Amino acid sequence: MAIHIKGGRVIDPGHCDGMFDLYIENGKILKMVTPGAAPKDMSVDQVIDATGMLVLPGLIDMHVHLRDPGFEYKESIETGCRAAVHGGFTAVCAMPNTRPVNDNRQVTEYMIRMANQAGFARVYPAAAISVGSKGQALSEYGDLKDAGAVALTDDGLPVENGQMMRRALEYAKGFNLPIISHCEDMSLAAGGCMNEGVVATRLGLPGIPNISESIMVMRDIGLCELTGGRLHIAHVSTEESVQAIRDAKKRGVPVTAETAPHYFTLTEAAIVDFDTHAKMNPPLRTEKDRAAICQGLADGTLDVIATDHAPHSPLEKNVEFNMAANGIIGLETALPLSLKLVTDGVLTLDAMIRKMTINPASILGIPTGIREGGIADITIIDPDREYILKADELYSKSRNTPFDGWTMRGKALYTLVNGRVVYKEPS
Ligand code: DOR
Ligand code: ZN
Repeated sequence: MAIHIKGGRVIDPGHCDGMFDLYIENGKILKMVTPGAAPKDMSVDQVIDATGMLVLPGLIDMHVHLRDPGFEYKESIETGCRAAVHGGFTAVCAMPNTRPVNDNRQVTEYMIRMANQAGFARVYPAAAISVGSKGQALSEYGDLKDAGAVALTDDGLPVENGQMMRRALEYAKGFNLPIISHCEDMSLAAGGCMNEGVVATRLGLPGIPNISESIMVMRDIGLCELTGGRLHIAHVSTEESVQAIRDAKKRGVPVTAETAPHYFTLTEAAIVDFDTHAKMNPPLRTEKDRAAICQGLADGTLDVIATDHAPHSPLEKNVEFNMAANGIIGLETALPLSLKLVTDGVLTLDAMIRKMTINPASILGIPTGIREGGIADITIIDPDREYILKADELYSKSRNTPFDGWTMRGKALYTLVNGRVVYKEPS
């Protein structure tokens, strides 16, 4: 199956930005030529007209909960990967808080096998730092890497014990695996269900202070500096965390960090109606924090935009606010929300694309880019396509998004994985 993508603006940050035609065959980008310069003796089976569109390396989401094995009523590897390609993502990093926890090669291999069978996005599993993510004993990093794990994390839970985190960073360093840290001091966060502050007081809900996140960011930066291991901070939500990471990077500490679209789009004000679709961990913060997140993205302190796609069923969301599960789905809203940063002048288009392609790829050590001979994982987007987001039309098995009914701008029209069209926007 040979595919010709013609007339689009091809952007691969640091490598190319211009009008090129792509010829794809056998999963690879065979030729990248100036428009009209058709390669000789090549028969094409499908022509994709990308006139007026952006042709990008496939988007990569390095923080996704696929819930499979164990919680398939929320999401399965198949539905999650379908949602991914619908949102323009060609690869996702799957978090290990499944049942059983992904702390062994059987689960890692299962995730990759199921993703291959589904045939949508690629899945790169992150395995657990500790056995059962219980923070008591390290899992077998060499074995997990050999099975296909690309990172280690106990995400959903912090590694509370400092000694454990130190050993994890040291042990992972030997395998060149990043440690993705969910930063939360449980004693400071205890009992809270939204950001600590006036809104929580008004609603009568117990709060989670900024310091519960930033104190752990600071601890982990200290341990990263001590060990020289690779540290990646997950879902940054506070101004103080951004500042700590900025200072650490200035000192040359090998730390990277991500934030999620909800932290640069929403604030705690989204919770005024006790809307559990605005409940996640860490919680939505204040406008001051949101602005600091934008600043951190703009100056490069925050390397990656990742969704923390966290599907939950209505059973877990249509309950009292303090009882509701943490998390929102994100795979099918991340692209327009991130493009908004470009229209708002927070990020250049180049920087936005980097944070959703080459930066996560380099942290995880996975392929990306649009090069002759490279893998044909490609997203073709219309940055100007406007539509109303309807939660019940999403491909994810879950519906827990605070963006239902929002007018969105920017849509993936075609998603190609390994040279195959795995998503095409209905015309
Ligand atoms: O909101 C969240 N949801 N935060 C987490 O840390 C875990 C995640 C989940 O697994 O639902
Ligand atoms: Zn997560």
